Amino acid sequence: MIKFDNVTKTYNKVTALKDLSLQIHKGEFISIVGQSGAGKSTLIRLIIGEERPDSGRILIDDIDVAKIRRADIPYLRRKIGVVFQDIKLLPNRTAFENVAYALEVSGDTADTIKKEVPKILEMVGLADKANSFPSEMSGGERQRVAIARALAHNPVLLLADEPTGNLDSINAWDIIQLLMKINKAGTTVILATHAKDLVNSVKKRVVTVEKGQIVYDQEKGKYVL
Ligand SMILES: Nc1ncnc2c1ncn2[C@@H]1O[C@H](COP(=O)(O)OP(=O)(O)O)[C@@H](O)[C@H]1O
Ligand SMILES: [Mg+2]
Repeated sequence: MIKFDNVTKTYNKVTALKDLSLQIHKGEFISIVGQSGAGKSTLIRLIIGEERPDSGRILIDDIDVAKIRRADIPYLRRKIGVVFQDIKLLPNRTAFENVAYALEVSGDTADTIKKEVPKILEMVGLADKANSFPSEMSGGERQRVAIARALAHNPVLLLADEPTGNLDSINAWDIIQLLMKINKAGTTVILATHAKDLVNSVKKRVVTVEKGQIVYDQEKGKYVL
């Protein structure tokens, strides 16, 4: 589903990814781990077309993201849900309205929104918080809303870049379990994180990145650094 072929990305003189090759299959749950500065976020940004590689190819299905026209990026982005450490919900909108907004901007009808949003909130375990505002929710709940929003377009791929970075360990583990549930329902999940304990509990494929290169790639792996 995703293929990195000898991808190099530099920022000015900093090499963020160096000749990196990686294949991710449909339906996988893969953790990309490594210390701060290893290149995890760069990898995510390349997948969504937010950055372009200096060399190499990045294929998503059969589309070469490295060559995609700027105008086509919104179509790519609709197939991919993304969540970050920094949650950024609309503060004056409820959980329901935050998720609904993602559907509104892509032109879904009010009927569709009324039908779909409760299903998505149910999926992330927030059915009872539909009418709560972000300020009335915990960090973990806010991240669930962000995940619900990322799932609004029923993406084939969910990217999570340090989604637990601002959460305590109990909330963090809840979020990881939610990502695993989403994966079980059929969505490919890529989790980028430096949180060792969380990744070791997942017991799925772990790819360890160090200085822009893959140093380990293990099925049911452990974070070994
Ligand atoms: N926009 C940028 N400009 C300059 N250097 C950057 C930029 N983004 C990332 N880098 C550098 O690229 C390397 C990889 O960064 P990043 O992909 O953010 O790593 P990680 O997510 O693993 O912490 C680091 O050395 C970082 O300082
Ligand atoms: Mg990062």
